[in-house]
Amino acid sequence: MAESPIHDIVILGAGSGGYAAALRAAQVGVDVALVEADKVGGTCLHRGCIPTKAMLHSAEIADQVRDSAKFGVRSRLDGIDLDGVNAFKRGVVDRLYKGLRGLIAGRGVNLVEGRGEVVSPRQVRVAGELIEGRQLILATGSHARSLPGLAIEGRVMTSDQALALDWAPRNPIVLGGGVIGLEFASLWSSFGARPVIVEALERLAPNEDLAVSKQLERAFRRRGIGFKVGAKVVDVWQSQDEVGIRLENGEELSGDLLLVAVGRGPNTDAVGFEQLGLELDLGFVVADRQLRTNVAGVWAVGDIVPGLQLAHRGFAQGIAAAERIAGLRPPPLIEAGIPRVTYCDPEIASVGLTEAAAKSEHGADAIETVEYNLAGNGRSQVLGAQGFVKLVRLAGGPVLGVHLIGARVGELIGEAQLIVNWEAHPEDVAELVHAHPTQDEAIGEAFLALAGKPLHAHV
Ligand code: NAI
Repeated sequence: MAESPIHDIVILGAGSGGYAAALRAAQVGVDVALVEADKVGGTCLHRGCIPTKAMLHSAEIADQVRDSAKFGVRSRLDGIDLDGVNAFKRGVVDRLYKGLRGLIAGRGVNLVEGRGEVVSPRQVRVAGELIEGRQLILATGSHARSLPGLAIEGRVMTSDQALALDWAPRNPIVLGGGVIGLEFASLWSSFGARPVIVEALERLAPNEDLAVSKQLERAFRRRGIGFKVGAKVVDVWQSQDEVGIRLENGEELSGDLLLVAVGRGPNTDAVGFEQLGLELDLGFVVADRQLRTNVAGVWAVGDIVPGLQLAHRGFAQGIAAAERIAGLRPPPLIEAGIPRVTYCDPEIASVGLTEAAAKSEHGADAIETVEYNLAGNGRSQVLGAQGFVKLVRLAGGPVLGVHLIGARVGELIGEAQLIVNWEAHPEDVAELVHAHPTQDEAIGEAFLALAGKPLHAHV
């Protein structure tokens, strides 16, 4: 029998972090085996970022048809064909999946299909076969969490089941006003439902700047999306046709579905991590800035590493780990410089520190902010986008945070990300000419205002 080769790297998990590591490793001439139990692409491609964005695009079209008379176009929304929405979503995912498989095969990555379990720092067992490597990258990702004692069944579901629905909810209850809760509430509302969000903290989008949360709450109210903040669920029940919850204050709500969107937990159970002696913190794998774990030769990337659970962070970590193993010296990732986008309507995009975080880090007197309202931005007026650009800077110093809310502002985060990560001063940006009329111009105008020379803004 031929002996199995010893690979330079074995990667466990082919989601965003794992496949990025594999592609980069192969690119720099490192021999790599990529072990995947399900489909390459992981949560982002099959159950997360991509399918939800496809559905949110259908939702945007529904809203545009509904509102078309405002733009002088007569049309009527006949209804949502959920089979059609799902077929569109599947088409997008399938094309990307095919492309990704092609990339993986084309770069010569050895894809091993099957559930892997780590048996030593150099070995992963897949269906009885040992896959050996000189280094091991763990990239097993995350799963939707539930509340203690709350079973995910029937009308109680997470985003996994909600994405696969073949019916459109009429009055869903959404538990959690974070990223997943906001995106689903937004899309179901566009499809004609009246969702209610229940959030334990005091505001929707609690990780965002306070001004963004307030603007979002106003916009959701106008859209008929209900929400209860500072609300804790104490009981959940369901029947054939209905699901009900009771809040701590005794209030009861009922609906046709309960989406549990209270965060995602790391997939670090039953994959051999503990036997390896790997240091875990609340189930997450502890890794240093180079993404090394406490076990020599074992690295960790993506959602299993504490921090932002975002696909683009996973890509960046995967690339960095592969490069370090290959002997390159990429700089450590700066977590605070990673951009964040929530694709609800209105969209939210941010990078760097919120005003509150900047004040607590540098002292209230050291922080200056400015908000530029999209009402003064020509392109936003054409699109009917309402919202603002908010800048947070260190007085006399660099920009620490950029916060955006409004239709399509996710596409503006690229410039904001450069500004924050390159520690630009407002005066540096204010002198750059922004194309007119673009929504991007709103960023330029905000910087003009912060540099003390506003153009299309009242002072
Ligand atoms: P999240 O952490 O963004 O939001 C969960 C929310 O649930 C929090 O606001 C929390 O206060 C609330 N919560 C927790 N327990 C609760 C309870 N018992 N009752 C009521 N509210 C409760 O997590 P989410 O939305 O589940 O998303 C999971 C991960 O997936 C996030 O890290 C997110 O960044 C990522 N993701 C990113 C997307 C994007 O970048 N556009 C899209 C979807 C998910």
